[in-house]
Amino acid sequence: MNQFEIKRIIDQAYDKAQLNKEDITAILAEDLANLDYLLQKADEKRDEICGDEVHLRAIIEFSSYCKQNCYYCGLRKDNQQLKRYQLKSKEIIETAQMASELGYQTVVLQSGEDDYPAEEIAEIIKKIKKTTAMAVTLSLGERDFEAYKLWREAGADRYLLKHEIADKVLYQKYHPGMSFENRIESLKYLKVLGYQIGSGVIIGLPDQTPAILAEDLLLCQDLELDMIGSGPFIPHQQTPLRGSEKGTVEMTLKFTALSRLLLPLAHIPATTALGTIDAEGRQKALQAGANVVMPNVTDGRYREQYQIYPDKICVNEEAGDCRQCIGGIIASLGRYVSQNQGHSLRE
Ligand code: SAM
Ligand code: SF4
Ligand code: FES
Repeated sequence: MNQFEIKRIIDQAYDKAQLNKEDITAILAEDLANLDYLLQKADEKRDEICGDEVHLRAIIEFSSYCKQNCYYCGLRKDNQQLKRYQLKSKEIIETAQMASELGYQTVVLQSGEDDYPAEEIAEIIKKIKKTTAMAVTLSLGERDFEAYKLWREAGADRYLLKHEIADKVLYQKYHPGMSFENRIESLKYLKVLGYQIGSGVIIGLPDQTPAILAEDLLLCQDLELDMIGSGPFIPHQQTPLRGSEKGTVEMTLKFTALSRLLLPLAHIPATTALGTIDAEGRQKALQAGANVVMPNVTDGRYREQYQIYPDKICVNEEAGDCRQCIGGIIASLGRYVSQNQGHSLRE
């Protein structure tokens, strides 16, 4: 594509937050070296909508048990080499309280698709809401619809459930025993229940094309997401995709920038996976439309056992170290850490 055509498409995305599938595909297929204008306009839109404020979401990875077998993930049930752990309610609550003391305004409770009792999770949510001023996000995979309702009533604010890949055939292939329809239905029901919803994709799964990623973006628009995330795929030895190529920084940045232009009001994280494949990855995403970072606050003893992919950053750190490190990164970009909960910008 010539620069004139690229500019036409990006200007339309910037002005109208609308592109057809063909134009999105063309941008995603273009070499990042020709897309300075895309990154610049995404950064401009981020500035216009979010200013220099960066929201931190503290993640507690409270259980590595998982009954699913996603082809790419190190926590998959069939990975018998992984030593599993599950934190007790008391530990989860204490970790959340520590995150609050470190200044975090949102805590994300994340786990594999474990059968942690729904009532116990509801009690944990209530206790965190009662004893801290934090927003609570859940990222527990698919559970039954009653559980989503129970947790919302207990005070959970947000739910994070990536749809991972919009192509149904590839979705079924990489998620044996799971259903794309159920995932989308879950997201829609969560929205009806009043959760702020986050979804998104893995970038670079085998056979994923720019046209599929264009479908992903259109689906994210349809779902009216409050948050959209994209992290590069990183192959893990104990999974069926061990021999595949990893996702690229370039495609992740293109997707991040287009996310900002097509869903201007969404919160967009600079992901840990991007920071893992490129030491400057999170900085690059923060300059390409992202306005959120999700540091780990899980106790150091467990971090190594939540290796969804190898060489994950921060595995040897403690919560306070990450808080300081990320604060430094944000300040080095001339941005600042938000002092509020960073609710949806759609409301
Ligand atoms: N079990 C829940 C779920 O699947 O939604 C939450 C935990 S899961 C580990 C969180 C995210 O990790 C997934 O949405 C997936 O995109 C990402 N992930 C898993 N394996 C990955 C890999 N090898 N490379 C990059 N991201 C990965
Ligand atoms: Fe389990 Fe989530 Fe990993 Fe899939 S992505 S195997 S559901 S932890
Ligand atoms: Fe964990 Fe930098 S964010 S060490």
